[in-house]
Amino acid sequence: MKSSSICIGLLGCGNVGAALVQLLTEQHESVKRRTGLDLSIEAIAVKDLDKDRSIPLPDEVFTTDSASIVNNPEIDLIIEVMGNIEPARELILQALNLGKSVVTANKELLAAHGAELYSAAENSGVDLLFEAAVAGGIPIVRPLRESLAGEPITQIRGIINGTTNFILSRMSQDGVSFDEALKEAQELGFAELDSTYDVEGYDAGAKVAIIATLAFGVEVTSQDVQHEGISKITVEDIKFANQLGHCIKLLAVAEQKVNENGSSEVGARVYPALVPLSHPLAAVNGSFNAVFVEGDAVGELMFYGPGAGGRPTASAVFGDVIDAAGNLQRSHGALIGALDKPNMIPPENLESPFYLNLKVEDQPGVLAQVAEVFGDHGVSIQSMEQEGMGSEARLIFITHSSREKDLFSTINSLNSLSVVSSVDSVLRVIGD
Ligand code: HSE
Repeated sequence: MKSSSICIGLLGCGNVGAALVQLLTEQHESVKRRTGLDLSIEAIAVKDLDKDRSIPLPDEVFTTDSASIVNNPEIDLIIEVMGNIEPARELILQALNLGKSVVTANKELLAAHGAELYSAAENSGVDLLFEAAVAGGIPIVRPLRESLAGEPITQIRGIINGTTNFILSRMSQDGVSFDEALKEAQELGFAELDSTYDVEGYDAGAKVAIIATLAFGVEVTSQDVQHEGISKITVEDIKFANQLGHCIKLLAVAEQKVNENGSSEVGARVYPALVPLSHPLAAVNGSFNAVFVEGDAVGELMFYGPGAGGRPTASAVFGDVIDAAGNLQRSHGALIGALDKPNMIPPENLESPFYLNLKVEDQPGVLAQVAEVFGDHGVSIQSMEQEGMGSEARLIFITHSSREKDLFSTINSLNSLSVVSSVDSVLRVIGD
């Protein structure tokens, strides 16, 4: 096979960048034999030239001048693993406008400015590939863009933040506290520098915006995603969920529905939910990620694997690099296609069963008063458990599927009952 040289510029050399250089060096000959592509890293932009990176490349390859790499006519392909929105956005736009293909792992950037970047790639006829931006090493972006491009996808539910899944797994399986589990995740290197980004659902929110855009062909940004995090989940909630045959997971949900006027609406949300132990997502533990896709034609699919970490994420970047390099040889780029503005589902119209954890006075007639409030708001109770706590009792309810609007009016009324001391937790519950 005749080999074609492709010169690569790398922007950023942290965990993922360093793992990528290592992988590319190890696999260079094998990739050349199998694809005919002779991939070489010509330049790497870093913040600090003096940092020891143990990378098998000469010092001259490193520079602090990212723009010089993008503007270098010898370089065919740019890999962006520097993170943050600027200057990554400007550098990527410049590279695309110069006709270079780009591979990026930058979820935050794509969730905020994806449409602008996809259209710049399309105008130049080059690739903008981003498998590593969602669910680390799991191939999910390419299946959504290609294999499932004709699939009428109805819903995607994912565990797409490794840090929060690790924390919930440690709390549930080993009784470790939230703070201790977060500290461990930080030490293991999955957590973002600002762990609020993981814990409060922003990271999963950026990823689900990208997923919803690809699945439904509309421009969903992180601004459109409603998110709730896991900082209020207690070991007690996890214990009650277990008693009821569930575990608690931080879910990212993208869905498409036809409303009563016949037009299509899209939802993109992140929230902690009770997941039945029999559901495939319940078996996803530690820092692993999984994406569960439901389509009208294909039925149910699950993608599972490591969702964070330098080497798994570098593996996803590497696959894109080989694809983009091959496309440069063939002079065509992969298309995202035109993206419409989405009609987002009004949150008050969303429905699901709910879990509620109430502290009440332990006296005759209290349960009847509480049950009456549910009935008054049209919320039907599916199951109830009670646990005594001296003069007070803990009541745990799971409702049948209810509109959020009705559920939140129920909570307001419960809070005004004198026999209810507090409504401590309200979580959604997903079906089997
Ligand atoms: N902080 C992210 C996570 C890293 O925990 O999943 C991968 O995007």
